[in-house]
Amino acid sequence: MNIKGKTALITGGANGIGYLYAKELLRNGLKCVYIMDLPNSEGDVAVTKLEAEFGKSRAVFLVCDVSKAKDFELTFKEVLDACKDLDILINNAGIMNDSRWEFMIDLNLKALVRGTLMAIDHMGKHKGGKGGTVVNIASTVGLNAYPYFPVYCATKHAVIGFSSSIQELYEKTCVRILTMCPAVTITALITECANKALEIMDKDELIADIKKRPSQSAEHVARALMDLIEKGDNGAIWVCAKGEPPYAIKRPTYSDYRIFQ
Ligand SMILES: NC(=O)c1ccc[n+]([C@@H]2O[C@H](COP(=O)([O-])OP(=O)(O)OC[C@H]3O[C@@H](n4cnc5c(N)ncnc54)[C@H](O)[C@@H]3O)[C@@H](O)[C@H]2O)c1
Repeated sequence: MNIKGKTALITGGANGIGYLYAKELLRNGLKCVYIMDLPNSEGDVAVTKLEAEFGKSRAVFLVCDVSKAKDFELTFKEVLDACKDLDILINNAGIMNDSRWEFMIDLNLKALVRGTLMAIDHMGKHKGGKGGTVVNIASTVGLNAYPYFPVYCATKHAVIGFSSSIQELYEKTCVRILTMCPAVTITALITECANKALEIMDKDELIADIKKRPSQSAEHVARALMDLIEKGDNGAIWVCAKGEPPYAIKRPTYSDYRIFQ
């Protein structure tokens, strides 16, 4: 996909990796990025910075808590009314907070499902749309166990299960479903996670575990995402870890898990 002249929407794009996705897409010729984020996210500051670097009207901030169904639906409609044609949706908003696990499921999973379905409805050829791309942000912990944040881990497994299933509709919809799995990336999600685990977790062990995992910059993940959007086939799942070049993965089927052959 050549993103020149295209329009994208990024949830949770005011800070962290989401903000750098916006920057990287604009640098590569995106016409306009819409950012949905919380009222206290300083999304207006993010947009001011993006416009200073890439020019007026290239970035728009909309206050929206995507975990709230009505709020997300209405704000999504606002974006469609403003831009007419949305080409790319990046379902990025997410938290790692097992102490608020029910809310985290609303955000990490339900909002991502809702966003994907709304995008398919708008972009889908079956509804007269011209096709498009949805990128769902999972995590490498969606591919493995992660004992310190079991519920977060479950939400990311669910993102991969959902994305790799709904991508089967591509022939009907012409909406590409891509999944990005970053490993530890230095943002507030990581640096502020120590007090967000379940009460049963040992905080010192958790901190030690995170410290020993190789980390990478958010800029690196943003470049990898750009690559994925440009080159990824429908259904692609990419891993971006340790600051190394991203790579596509193939998931095993259940018989590959069999212990005794
Ligand atoms: N940082 C990592 O190590 C890492 C690794 C793998 C996956 N991820 C995933 O990448 C995504 C972004 O994470 P990050 O590290 O940039 O986090 P971050 O905390 O730095 O940024 C998250 C952004 O989402 C926004 N947000 C939070 N709740 C929201 C809501 N209800 N509605 C709208 N916006 C909301 C925040 O205001 C913030 O701008 C998440 O889905 C996360 O799970 C992060």
